[in-house]
Amino acid sequence: MTLQFSLGSAAPATVDSACVLVGVYEQGVLTSAAAQVDSAAGGVIKRQVESGDISGKAGSTTLLFAPTGVAAQRVLVVGLGTQKSFDAARYQKVSIEAARALGRLPVANAVSYLTDVDVPGRDSAWRVRIAALASDYAAYRYTATFKPRDKNKQTELAALAFAAGTDAQGGLDQAVAIAAGVRFARELANLPPNICNPAYIAAQAQTFADTQDKVSCTVLDDVQMEKLGFGSLLAVARGSVNKPRLIALEYKGGNDGDKPYAFVGKGVTFDSGGISLKPGAGMEEMKFDMGGAAGVLGAFVAAVKMGLKLNLVCVVPSVENMPDGDSYRPSDVLTSLSGLTIEVLNTDAEGRLILCDALTWTAQTYQPQALIDAATLTGACVVALGKHATGLMSKHDDLAAELLAAGEETLDRAWRLPLWDDYQAQLDSGFADVANIGGKSAGAITAACFLSRFTDGQRWAHLDIAGTAWDEGRKGLATGRPVALLAQWLLDRAG
Ligand code: BES
Ligand code: MN
Ligand code: ZN
Repeated sequence: MTLQFSLGSAAPATVDSACVLVGVYEQGVLTSAAAQVDSAAGGVIKRQVESGDISGKAGSTTLLFAPTGVAAQRVLVVGLGTQKSFDAARYQKVSIEAARALGRLPVANAVSYLTDVDVPGRDSAWRVRIAALASDYAAYRYTATFKPRDKNKQTELAALAFAAGTDAQGGLDQAVAIAAGVRFARELANLPPNICNPAYIAAQAQTFADTQDKVSCTVLDDVQMEKLGFGSLLAVARGSVNKPRLIALEYKGGNDGDKPYAFVGKGVTFDSGGISLKPGAGMEEMKFDMGGAAGVLGAFVAAVKMGLKLNLVCVVPSVENMPDGDSYRPSDVLTSLSGLTIEVLNTDAEGRLILCDALTWTAQTYQPQALIDAATLTGACVVALGKHATGLMSKHDDLAAELLAAGEETLDRAWRLPLWDDYQAQLDSGFADVANIGGKSAGAITAACFLSRFTDGQRWAHLDIAGTAWDEGRKGLATGRPVALLAQWLLDRAG
């Protein structure tokens, strides 16, 4: 069930709703909405602050049931942390926690006044957009591969209103489109690899194109790629019975002659490592190795739903990396689509081997005005930046700045690592133009250096989302990152 959002301006004490959400800072500082509820209800919030039941700690929640003097049946008091350190990132965190707590209640509708709080440097449209995205994020449930178990189903949240004026409507509309893209990405990435294989991703892309007039989809299979010379991508694919695909979605929202923006996303539907087999522990997480593909497809969906006035292409090279009697092996020399030869020193460095051919093909086919790839490319990026920041590498300072700004705006943040030529020598090979690994230091950067050999003359940036594409742990779900970052970057380009 999708959550319906709206804007409202009714007062918190008198609005007719199953639940209203109001914020309280630490040290008992009430927001204006909390103060209104408090005085209508005879000081119930202040008394609970005094008793210590309401701490105001960031992300904490306290439910008041049927307080007298308030029209709503419930009041959810949400802690905002200290007022003086309250900022955009805190606002997002609190919005997610509030939405999670709300999702646990048996309510079908609610009104949030958290969008009324002051966030330094951000306007009401921004606050509504972040709150709506956070709420949709928290409301997402993965159900595709569970047995249906709907007995005693609790009432689910279906409608959520935010306190805001009509000036926030644009922000809400963007949120709805971006949330659809995030959901698309999360659902695709969460599916197991025995369902979500290269042909499945191609079918999903084709299905989306079929529902939109300005979108078309082209899919190349292994025979077509063989003819074109995708020697690097096809080598990775050889060990799997699930045949590879190259998926290209085109959106014509701009003028006919305008060069498109181009996204390329790593679509390894399962990365066992191949002959350089990964250890067993945690290998199941490698179903998320198509997170880059999911992310660029999700951003594409968001751009189409926003009706952006620009041309966009989204290219997904998709393979499965498996060990087999016919697998490629360490020491193989491959001839890539660009003509450069590659010495394989580790079959687990497969992402760059499919991306290089996809980047070459995208540049040749579309001459894009900017080319951005997203990939769960290196464990080294997770070591460097952890689970919070996407790694950004580019030789183009202006493009890097645009992407960093889009990340800050949406709080889907990236952090730049250097892409200096000093690192290129780590890829020297005695048997080919380039080796596919660069030794133990600076693994995220040398992976990007490898890709840079195939993007000469392109205005190109690389996003390593190995840390950000999914939450860790047995029940970790795909996050849908970097859909919001990429969608915002496109929004900024569309003006
Ligand atoms: N898909 C992995 C990268 C990865 C690892 C993402 C862990 C998220 C979590 C990629 O294909 C890979 O295996 N990279 C190797 C490269 C190495 C062989 C140079 C890695 O990071 O270990
Ligand atoms: Mn790998
Ligand atoms: Zn991989």
